[in-house]
Amino acid sequence: MTGSSPLDSFIKECYNYHNRNTENPMEQLVRFSVSMEEGLLHQFDHLIEQKGYTNRSEAVRDIVRDTLVEESVKTPGGIVYGALVFVYDHHKRELEKSLSNLQHDYYENIISTSHVHVDHDHCMEVVLLHGKAVILKAIAEKLLSFKGVKHGKLTLTMALKGHHHGK
Ligand code: NI
Repeated sequence: MTGSSPLDSFIKECYNYHNRNTENPMEQLVRFSVSMEEGLLHQFDHLIEQKGYTNRSEAVRDIVRDTLVEESVKTPGGIVYGALVFVYDHHKRELEKSLSNLQHDYYENIISTSHVHVDHDHCMEVVLLHGKAVILKAIAEKLLSFKGVKHGKLTLTMALKGHHHGK
């Protein structure tokens, strides 16, 4: 790890904090209070109830994790996992070859590809990726820009739980 920007250190701090909690179940959860407008809180309660949360704390924890992951995957050199899902026109000439060539160009970043024959005209592929966020985004952009690729989306994620504890 070479990152040393304020964001990197903040994320590292958050990881460390998160890791302490997961590694030591005896550690106390820290309580803090939040002030917000009544109407906003009402909307929040309504939303988390719809999503199936039983309490606000778990909902807030998930939102914090989600934000941390979102920020982390914005770091170009950050090592992340990705799932690229897209649907394309099966009859488009040369498209399958282009898609395959691109995936071979980036074989080091591609874990696996699943192919689904959606109907007579369409195929869906799910490409699982691993590597630097900036590379995965570039792969997705290139692939989704091919003529005949009708719809697609890249989702990036990473583990927030502790794994490396090198001293
Ligand atoms: Ni197919």
